[in-house]
Amino acid sequence: MPNVPRLFAGSLLALAASAAAAAAQYPNKPITMIVPFAAGGPTDVVTRLVGEHMARTLRQPIIVEDVGGAGGTIGVNKASKAINDGYTLLFTHMGTLSVNIALYKSLPYDSQKDFEPIGLGGTNPMVLVTKKALPANNFAEFRKYVTENQKKVQYGMAGIGSASHLGGLMLNSMMKVEVLEIPYKGTGPALNDLVSGQFDYMVDQAVNVLAQINSGNIKALGVSSLKPLPQLPNVPTIDGSGLKGYEVSIWNGFFGPKGMSKDQIARINDALVKTLADPAVSKRLTELAVDLPNKEEATPAALATQLKASIDKWVPAVRAAGVKPE
Ligand code: MLT
Repeated sequence: MPNVPRLFAGSLLALAASAAAAAAQYPNKPITMIVPFAAGGPTDVVTRLVGEHMARTLRQPIIVEDVGGAGGTIGVNKASKAINDGYTLLFTHMGTLSVNIALYKSLPYDSQKDFEPIGLGGTNPMVLVTKKALPANNFAEFRKYVTENQKKVQYGMAGIGSASHLGGLMLNSMMKVEVLEIPYKGTGPALNDLVSGQFDYMVDQAVNVLAQINSGNIKALGVSSLKPLPQLPNVPTIDGSGLKGYEVSIWNGFFGPKGMSKDQIARINDALVKTLADPAVSKRLTELAVDLPNKEEATPAALATQLKASIDKWVPAVRAAGVKPE
């Protein structure tokens, strides 16, 4: 009998030592990064760009898993239910964690209770883009055309609660128009259809649309920020083009399932901060109009604050726009 507690204590010590060794080695196998939208869209592109460099810092591969559908809620839900061992993480944007609280009668996850914030990836301005053949060459002409053709005009978005849905619904509500929405699993596939003229317009993150604008395959008629973008110097703001007060920008960030260890969160955050400070990565992201966080904005606590601020701002704003939850 006297040996039993000693043995037990011995095994506990051994267990604690091996857990400490595993934590010290983290990560020691590939990390899966869930992206809740289709491949080729803004969330996927930023994840791959940042993830590639983070993987080098972490010395482990990062496998990007695109789980699109239902405005990102399918992928975010999957991440919320993942094992919290630090090997399944989520890269998503504020739409899926804040805007959609106002848009779904019941969400299968709680943005603030089911995740550990890890770090902000960046903030993205949006651009109102139209198919090339749309008979409007500036915002005033666009507004007139959409107002007069509400029955036939269609706008594209990445599902209820997505960033492009937020951008579109605020635009439509402020222009006082009702037009048909065409949902996609992400704005990557939506953009292909806009280029081929399948629908009329979309409000999407600049990171996704700059190349097609610059190639002349779609038209940019306004930016969602209050200042014009250096990347699109000839495109005025929507706010300054007659829709006073229109301003939407989209932040995205890294999260882990609730209960992920503090050490692991710190390790991923460190890899993220190093990645965003890398001159080649920050140059590329800046070219894509991504506004990068400074040191204070890049902490897990700052991301938690950012999430709460988005919920406080967008849930009442979307409700006030009169959109009925699904
Ligand atoms: C969105 O509208 O939420 C995004 O563009 C989604 C995506 O990354 O495709």
